[in-house]
Amino acid sequence: AAGAPFQYIVAEKRGANQNVGLIQLNRPQALNALCAGLMREVKQALETFESDPHVGAIVITGSEKAFAAGADIKEMQNNTFQQCYSAGFLDEWDRVSKVRKPVIAAVNGYALGGGCELAMMCDIIYAGEKAQFGQPEILLGTIPGAGGTQRLTRAVGKSLAMEMVLTGDRISA
Ligand code: COA
Repeated sequence: AAGAPFQYIVAEKRGANQNVGLIQLNRPQALNALCAGLMREVKQALETFESDPHVGAIVITGSEKAFAAGADIKEMQNNTFQQCYSAGFLDEWDRVSKVRKPVIAAVNGYALGGGCELAMMCDIIYAGEKAQFGQPEILLGTIPGAGGTQRLTRAVGKSLAMEMVLTGDRISA
């Protein structure tokens, strides 16, 4: 296991040679919404696997129903711009894209908002039949603020990225 027992994730080494670091998001009652505590645990597990010489690659996954349904709406709904800006809201998420080992997102179910952004921070996305990618922030009056506007454009092109960001419509694998 990757150090401490976690509340929101399961982290363990898998595979015949125990050289895959698996991080499973495990907050089913909130469809793996990415609350601050969950992202702190993801960061901690990533750092443990990154510094473990026996780990060659890392997989981040969720459940059949949800990879992650977004940043935690309940946690952030009362944030003001000033609070977000001063406290560096979402600053730590970027750690995912800086890991010096390949990180694979294994996605099924909802990958929405911050969940879609988290998947796109990984090096490779493997998506299952039930995967649903979307940036529905506009429906809440906010924007994909964790890199989504930039990474989605690179992943699917400007036209589809703008359509998804401006409508909130989802796409499949
Ligand atoms: N943040 C916090 N809680 C969330 C969440 C989020 N992003 N997404 C889902 N949840 C919670 C719901 O509040 C609900 O908890 P509750 O029963 O305590 O109220 C639980 O997860 C199950 O969600 P529910 O909406 O009942 O499931 P569903 O199957 O009917 O719908 C979704 C699934 C994904 C379509 C719907 O939950 C949704 O639209 N979520 C928000 C997606 C979003 O806007 N993400 C971007 C955030 S920036």
